[in-house]
Order: sequence, then structure tokens, then C-alpha cells
Amino acid sequence: MNNGTAELKRQAAWRAVQFVESGSVVGLGAGSTAAFALRRLAELLRAGHLKDILGVPCSLQVEQEARSLRIPIATLEEHPVVDLTIDGADEVNPDLDLIKGGGGALLREKIVAQASLREIIVVDESKLSPVLGTCWAVPVEVAPFGWGSHVPFLESLGARVALRTNRDGVQFKTDQGNLILDCNFGPISDPRRVAAQLSQRAGVVEHGLFLGLATDVIVAGDEGITHLKRGETDDRH
Ligand code: A5P
Repeated sequence: MNNGTAELKRQAAWRAVQFVESGSVVGLGAGSTAAFALRRLAELLRAGHLKDILGVPCSLQVEQEARSLRIPIATLEEHPVVDLTIDGADEVNPDLDLIKGGGGALLREKIVAQASLREIIVVDESKLSPVLGTCWAVPVEVAPFGWGSHVPFLESLGARVALRTNRDGVQFKTDQGNLILDCNFGPISDPRRVAAQLSQRAGVVEHGLFLGLATDVIVAGDEGITHLKRGETDDRH
């Protein structure tokens, strides 16, 4: 990530943090953009500008970082409804539908998003895309048992499939101990149909199509910050 992109991510994240109110339960998203929001929240808590925040982390790594920043942590068992979540995305279309899961945290991210009254997505402008799948593969989290059987199934849906590995070539494992199959569909004309096909497959735990979940998308670009809201027209794509 070059400095310019990092600065745009920071700007988007800091703008989103302005919507956090004292006393609220906040979903803590994963990824490099959401990390700027996490650190900003910690700063505002330390300075006393925000009080009584409880964070619900979207990954074990985020939980560790939040604890090290002394952000109080809560579970969805303790607080089943999250007031506001700030998370990143890999690709955003004009309907504010998303591809997420580049960092592998899609399952927890989707659970937290569905529990959230408000889901604010923070991105730099490179994440905007006219059609989901144009820039990014859809991560599909699968149980390890029988994962190979999903490859021909996913190919039959039109995807080129790659098992996600770490840098050393070892299978990537999610926080749940599952595997990720990155599915390159190319531009997806009907993401709802693909999402339904993926969801009905036994062994598929979750997929990275986040449809109808973002209430807001904050986009930072060279020309400034744009706040897109669900249901409002977007001319940025
Ligand atoms: C994590 O699994 C992802 O969904 C991230 O939110 C997404 O990949 C965006 O990450 P960056 O903010 O690092 O681009």
C-alpha cells in the first residue's frame, strides 16, 4: 500500500468514526482500512472524547489489537445488537453491495454486519466498481471435509477457483479453522443468484458477497470524501 492509498484509507476511516457515539456497541471490522478506525477509536477513548464504548471484533486478530489498545470488548451473546459497525471492503458496486473477505474474516464480518443497525463501509476510491467481480474474486469459506468436491461445483457456476494459501504455500485457515476458495467469476451480472447458489451448497460455510448489508459507504479519493447512503443515487461509479 503506498502512502497515498494509506492516507485515503485513514480519511475514510476517521470520517466514519465521527458517527460513533458514547455508550454504543461498535463492530470492529477487519483489514487495513478498518484498522485506522480502530486506532482512532482508541485515541478518542483515551482522550475522553468518547466514553463507554464496547467493541465487537470481526476477527481474532482485531480482537487482539483492540485489547492491546485497551478498547473494551463485548460478545454478541452479551450484546446481540450492534449499534454501528465500521468495516472495509474489497469491491463496492453502485447499489452498495460488496465483495469482502480479502483478509479471510468474511464469516465473522457478515455475522456482525447482520447484527448491526448501521454498517458503515470505509474504502479508498479504487474499491468502486460498476459490477461486482470485475476486480476481485469472491472468497468462499468451506469446511475442510470434502473441500475438493466444491471445485467442480464452483466451476459449474462459472468461477475459476483457487485454494487460498499463505505465503509459504500452506493452506490458509480462517478463525474457524475452515479453508477459503477464491472464486473468480469475472463481472457478476446477478450477484443474488450466485449468492443463493453458494448458500445452498453443503460445506459452504459463508461467501464474500455482502448484499444489502451496507447502510453507508464512505469513499475517500483525491477529490475528497463522499458519503454514499443506501437508497441514494451514486454518481461516483
Ligand atoms: C477482511 O476479511 C476483508 O473483508 C476486509 O474488510 C477487506 O479485505 C478490505 O481490506 P482493506 O481495508 O485492507 O483493503
